[in-house]
Amino acid sequence: MSTTSKEIRLASRPTGMPAAENFELAEVDLPALEDGQVLIKNHWMSVDPYMRGRMMDIQSYVPPFQVGEVLSGGAIGEVVESKNPDCPVGTWLNHMGGWREFTISDGMLDQRIDPNLAPPQAFLGVLGMPGLTAYAGLLRVGELKDGDQVFVTAASGAVGSVVCQIAKAKGHYVAGSAGSDDKCKWLEDIAGIDKAINYKNYGSQPELEAAMAEACPKGIDVYFENVGGDHLTSALNLMNQFARAPFCGMISRYNDTAPVAGPPNLVMTVAKSLKLQGFIVTNHLDMAEDFLRDVPAWIKDGKIKWEETVYEGIEKAPDAFMGLFAGANFGKMLVKLS
Ligand SMILES: NC(=O)c1ccc[n+]([C@@H]2O[C@H](COP(=O)([O-])OP(=O)(O)OC[C@H]3O[C@@H](n4cnc5c(N)ncnc54)[C@H](OP(=O)(O)O)[C@@H]3O)[C@@H](O)[C@H]2O)c1
Repeated sequence: MSTTSKEIRLASRPTGMPAAENFELAEVDLPALEDGQVLIKNHWMSVDPYMRGRMMDIQSYVPPFQVGEVLSGGAIGEVVESKNPDCPVGTWLNHMGGWREFTISDGMLDQRIDPNLAPPQAFLGVLGMPGLTAYAGLLRVGELKDGDQVFVTAASGAVGSVVCQIAKAKGHYVAGSAGSDDKCKWLEDIAGIDKAINYKNYGSQPELEAAMAEACPKGIDVYFENVGGDHLTSALNLMNQFARAPFCGMISRYNDTAPVAGPPNLVMTVAKSLKLQGFIVTNHLDMAEDFLRDVPAWIKDGKIKWEETVYEGIEKAPDAFMGLFAGANFGKMLVKLS
């Protein structure tokens, strides 16, 4: 008997902020497994800001999604049928066949996870791609050194919250910005950072800069960039000599419909010998072993905590994705499929 699976397809390419009509729910009958394949029942799927870029028809570090085709992304599931002796029924996999209830895979490139180590969905967040992004971005790209003052944007999000807590675990002064008072309270009271500011309280770039300066009174040595815009302009003015800025993302720009001028004060990079470096997590997979040694240890010691926002059902996946651009998530944005 064939398996029926619901999936979300790209109905049209978004212009500006993604909207419900850009997505389409479909139901498919899956074919019988071929030798070497496994059928994965997905329990969790991830929605991530980078998927917005894949909805545009441009070549980037990952190919664009195609209109009319099912979307893809990180997911956690359990093998429920197997024609692959190396991947038996009951194996839990972290794989890229998300945005659907069931995935057929050859199971070879998928990462096996131990659901006894942590709740399985943690492998889409703190123990998965966002966690490794934080680890590699801060430690390798940001070249974190003793005594550095760290400023993190989107600080309560999946990546930002881990950046903040790694820096705290290593004994640094850490400040950050987030888009609500509740998120700031969590950052100070639970994540333990030194100062969090709600950037939505400041109506202009100079006001935001003044708040960031007050939050980081000795200046910024590592500016972890997740948002761009006024935060970046402010950071360039506040960074110390030889400061580093790992450019992880610029979510405030992802829905732009026209080119936007860059920061007017880029000349600060010369005057202060700043190092601004973009990076993609997949270029740092060689750090995965160290990451999977250090982060579970920090979690065990109570030094890394995390929040999740969970939408239930595949039908809600587009809402969860769109919510990323409105700050609807507190910590990792997830969709629970079963
Ligand atoms: N380079 C890489 O390999 C890599 C890998 C993963 C992620 N990233 C990037 O890292 C950043 C964070 O990703 P994430 O997965 O951890 O997402 P996230 O921070 O969990 O969720 C996105 C958050 O961005 C904030 N935001 C949305 N629109 C904003 C705006 N206009 N201005 C300021 N903040 C805004 C919202 O929080 P507030 O409530 O605080 O506004 C929202 O909750 C993104 O830029 C993403 O593209 C890069």
